[in-house]
Amino acid sequence: MKKIIAPSLISADLAFLYRDIEMLNNSEADWFHIDIMDTSFVSNISFGSLFTKYVKKYTNKPIDVHLMILRPECFIQEFKNSGANHLHIHYETCIHLHKTISYIKEYGMKVGIAVNPHTPIFLLQDVINDVDFVLLMSVNPGSCGQKFIEQTYQKLKETKDLILKKDSSALIEIDGGVNVENSSLLFDNGADILVSGSTIFSNSHPKKIIRQMKFGGL
Ligand code: DX5
Ligand code: ZN
Repeated sequence: MKKIIAPSLISADLAFLYRDIEMLNNSEADWFHIDIMDTSFVSNISFGSLFTKYVKKYTNKPIDVHLMILRPECFIQEFKNSGANHLHIHYETCIHLHKTISYIKEYGMKVGIAVNPHTPIFLLQDVINDVDFVLLMSVNPGSCGQKFIEQTYQKLKETKDLILKKDSSALIEIDGGVNVENSSLLFDNGADILVSGSTIFSNSHPKKIIRQMKFGGL
């Protein structure tokens, strides 16, 4: 278990983006999570590669890009050029999943396979040795500030079991509804990376929240 915290910039104050980037640079956050939405796979629009490029300019921490878009294979080079270090694609959006995973690796990025709350984990058995991360959606993708889906604990166990059975080195990332109350339990149950948006950025002491999520306690 790695205990990586990846704040999602979708909940940052975009009018003060540089201030929030600097806050994260000076915090115990490990990665920057950027949610890309396209109005087709999910109903919202969020950011594109230009946003990623500007965030990259002001941090040395890894950029963890979560593509909630249809036809992600068409945007791999674009996100590589924008400075993404990790690219997560959704299982539900990929017709040629194995091929798309290979492309992302050829571009020198780490690759994550993201799954919606309804997608069974056994569907990952033939790609689990090809990916660096499994991103379990613990809310339905599309917006921040939603309630954590408790069934995620069962999926976390199934993912852990699959990883052990297949001797995969994939890390498990949990995204959506993560807060100070559930972070310790998620880490204790085998999560390696926690993404959190609204809990961190809506608090007046975001660095303290990040520390609490990472190390527990108050
Ligand atoms: C959901 C996104 C998440 C989410 C995190 O579509 O992938 O990254 O916005 O935000 P919170 O922590 O508020 O659920
Ligand atoms: Zn995300």
